[in-house]
Amino acid sequence: MLLDRIKPLDAILATAKKTSLKRTLGPIQLMLFGIGCIIGTGIFVLTAAGAQKAGPGLMLAFAIAGLVCIVAALCYAEIAAMIPVAGSAYTYSYATMGELLAWTVGWALILEYAIAASAVSVGWSGYFTGTILNQFLGIELPQWLAAGPLALGGEPGGLVNLPAMAIALLITGLLMIGTNESARVNAVLVVIKVAALTAFMALTFTSPEFDADRFNPFLPAGVFGGFGSGLGAVGAAATIFFAYVGFDAVSTAAEETRNPQRNVPIGLVGSLLFCTVFYILVAAGAIGTIGGQPIVGPDGIPFPAGSEQLALQCAMPQYSAALVCSDEALAHVLRQIGFSGIGNMLGIAAFLALPSVILVLLFAQTRIFFVMSRDGLLPEGLSRIHPRWNTPYVVTAITGTIVAFAAAFFPVGQLADIANAGTLYAFLMVAVAVMLLRRSAPDRKRDFRVPALWLVAPATILGCGFLFLNLPAEAMLVLPIWSLIGLAVYFGYSRRRSHLGRGIIEVHEPEYAEIEPGIPGVDDRKGA
Ligand code: ALA
Repeated sequence: MLLDRIKPLDAILATAKKTSLKRTLGPIQLMLFGIGCIIGTGIFVLTAAGAQKAGPGLMLAFAIAGLVCIVAALCYAEIAAMIPVAGSAYTYSYATMGELLAWTVGWALILEYAIAASAVSVGWSGYFTGTILNQFLGIELPQWLAAGPLALGGEPGGLVNLPAMAIALLITGLLMIGTNESARVNAVLVVIKVAALTAFMALTFTSPEFDADRFNPFLPAGVFGGFGSGLGAVGAAATIFFAYVGFDAVSTAAEETRNPQRNVPIGLVGSLLFCTVFYILVAAGAIGTIGGQPIVGPDGIPFPAGSEQLALQCAMPQYSAALVCSDEALAHVLRQIGFSGIGNMLGIAAFLALPSVILVLLFAQTRIFFVMSRDGLLPEGLSRIHPRWNTPYVVTAITGTIVAFAAAFFPVGQLADIANAGTLYAFLMVAVAVMLLRRSAPDRKRDFRVPALWLVAPATILGCGFLFLNLPAEAMLVLPIWSLIGLAVYFGYSRRRSHLGRGIIEVHEPEYAEIEPGIPGVDDRKGA
């Protein structure tokens, strides 16, 4: 009874047909789009938290998280090329596992997109206060305005993270009035980010400070820190997984891709591979020059990243230069090895480029809400379109307010871990959906087929489940609690209102297309 509401694939595909978009994107554009969504707070900021969890083993952590994302990306490639419509994992689940599970996926995607947008806002705030305010303008923002007070584990924060809140609200405003990032702007920002990371690698690897001894011990907290501890190389992988979040946005462009059989997997896997290699090298450069050993307690166990104890240690003079204590990890490394000017330029690169990551994540979130509301699972008022701006302004304003609130009051590491919990669940469900579709619709046309699916999809499921279990316990707990709230909403509201449940199977896309001015960073369909 509960799992019987499966949305017919034909209705979904008819929807896609109605908006048949021009197939113009090639592999390079897709990779640029992917890299634009992927590189952000993860590498620029969370490198510090990752080192506190794993020490030099952070490099291994980047490899583990990258591998899990690559197998997940192959699953995304098959299903996105087959069901190229809005709604991503939520829509795929609706067509395969039914409304209830699709609802849980849509609900988890709120963590992936909205909370991730908050995390990137907080990461941006670190570079804004450190590089722009402090280094360039000589302004020291008081702590109570530079950090939020809340943390699930308790952190001596400030009162409100004003810059993080402001950037989230600014991006919300831009999306409400219909501003979108063009492919050209995205390409420029990708070049800026990649140039900053390349300069970082070149300077660190050639620095006289670089010393192979700094990689010893390589795994100070072991490979497994224990489930729920968030420590060790896999604990760091569970956190640093955030650095790859966003690649699934590439799958949303499947419908516009030339020769998707070849180009969608190249775009997805290519951008992930590129980032994995860069991330490992950047981590090596940072650790090789200023070291990345965790700060440990009397028991020899690293203090939890973002904890009160760690903050107290970081306030001591002997740790003032430690990688694990910095809010702007990469700029900090360059300043420490005598390249203050280039460190500041890297800070500016982060300052310029991170807002576009926030924009893509917020955009994705509003579109998921939009599709859920169009399916009747969320109030229809949410999908109201503004007469002049032609955007779903109600849902954008609500989403932006939630994102700004979380950004104002929570620390970046915890937000990232929570976003990861939701994302891992969504990836896992996509792998299940691909296998189910191979069984239920074996003869349907697939523009891309995952090679060795029966190995790749189970590997995705195991990888995601394993990383989830290695998140810190608080972040892990958020997902079941959040899901329970979601189920209460579903049974209290959505189930009765569901269009599918009421026998309405629509083929909508036209009015959606009107408000869909193009995926940020991919094309410039606005007004087309
Ligand atoms: N992967 C994106 C980042 O690191 C979300 O900011």
